[in-house]
Amino acid sequence: MLGICYGAQYMSHVLGGKVEPAPSREYGRANLTTIDLDNPLFRGFEKGSQVWMSHGDTITALPEGFQCIASTDSVKYAAYWSGEETVNGKSSNGKGIWGVQFHPEVFHSLQGTLLLKNFVVDICGSRQDWSPANFVETTVAELREQIGSDRVILGLSGGVDSSVCAVLLNRAIGDQLTCIFVNHGMLRKDEFQNVMKDYECLGLNVVGVDASQKFFADLDGVTEPEAKRKIIGRDFIEVFNAEVKTLSNSPLKGENPGKNSLPLREGRGGSYRWLAQGTIYPDRIESLNITGKVIKSHHNVGGLPEEMHLQLCEPLKWLFKDEVRRVGRQLGIPEHLIGRHPFPGPGLAVRILGAVTPEKVRILQEADDIFIQALRDWGLYDQIWQAGAILLSDVRSVGVMGDERTYDNPIALRAVTSTDAMTADWAHLPYDFLAKVSNDIINKVKGVNRVCYDISSKPPSTIEWE
Ligand code: XMP
Repeated sequence: MLGICYGAQYMSHVLGGKVEPAPSREYGRANLTTIDLDNPLFRGFEKGSQVWMSHGDTITALPEGFQCIASTDSVKYAAYWSGEETVNGKSSNGKGIWGVQFHPEVFHSLQGTLLLKNFVVDICGSRQDWSPANFVETTVAELREQIGSDRVILGLSGGVDSSVCAVLLNRAIGDQLTCIFVNHGMLRKDEFQNVMKDYECLGLNVVGVDASQKFFADLDGVTEPEAKRKIIGRDFIEVFNAEVKTLSNSPLKGENPGKNSLPLREGRGGSYRWLAQGTIYPDRIESLNITGKVIKSHHNVGGLPEEMHLQLCEPLKWLFKDEVRRVGRQLGIPEHLIGRHPFPGPGLAVRILGAVTPEKVRILQEADDIFIQALRDWGLYDQIWQAGAILLSDVRSVGVMGDERTYDNPIALRAVTSTDAMTADWAHLPYDFLAKVSNDIINKVKGVNRVCYDISSKPPSTIEWE
């Protein structure tokens, strides 16, 4: 058994150790200044190895018989194990328990993958036989089995997860799949048109719905981040629902030979039975409500299926983003779609601090477009996990342009490195690049007179500002 962070504290607590509030909370980078390199969990580790912490409580005493196997400057029990002796006097428990206070599963724990490999492969004896090709083959077979001759509806977002999910399903069930791409008016500049073209090139059966006006009307005057997310989620369900009802009575593509076509083949046409979603593993973790606290409600999790009486199909739900990308390549999806930065479902609404209006979206789209285009031009786009601009629409500051005093909004730029969005670090972009982007934005985007660069890691911040 391997307990990570709270898991390590929990095991220590129930087995007779002690967990107490730490004198100061610890988030972010730390180094394992002492490590028991002979312990099988740390095989191949280097002394001083960087790890990522995220905790407020700390273990102050280990259960009887347990041993400390790593420490940092501020955490005495950064890792422990039950040793070869006994646990609470029972020798049968003697070998199988490890606990680590840090997060080996995140990118910024530099040898974290090695630790997990040591545990899963060497200690537990698991086989390493996952490959994108295997995944596609088995998932296509499972989807055919699961769905049979039913129809499936899928909401596309333009992002890599929903695109890979759609192509995978298309391979499994072909024209039984219908995709809907809703424009809520808060996508990136020209995103709706560009992505629709991409989808058509991929041979997907996709319906584009422009519902911008409804979303803007319902968001009018709303400033609270979770309230915005809830409205967008709810509107999305309404628009999606209405579209599905219309589509439900339409025939399958290729099965409607003429105006006076016959009724649909039994069991294949008609209403939809399944809702497919490109939910991936981190979405599920961050939307979990274990302690009564949701970090952010990601709108592709929950909500839709109950409302629509549809069964949920989530073929990517055990994958992390890097695995989704590998599956996408396996399926032959073009690189510009696979390499696309993640973009939140609620779009620019969560990058406008304050109430959302079409004019603010326009300003942000222009600034964001300059930033993203510059990242591409400077060859930096692929080195970065995700980037975008944020409009601080309730903040105004004074500037001077020509002979004129300005009193306008600042734009913040955010660019982060990550592998799974669970943790992230701010990207160390070159100063020359930032200077150029700042100049371009202030000169070209009316309404903006100041540009700042966000230098916060996750945790304690999040990637999006809302
Ligand atoms: P945070 O801000 O929580 O973001 O650090 C983690 C990752 O999730 C994306 N994100 C969302 N994706 N629906 C989505 O599909 C959402 O509501 C949502 N909110 C955040 C975010 O862009 C980042 O990649």
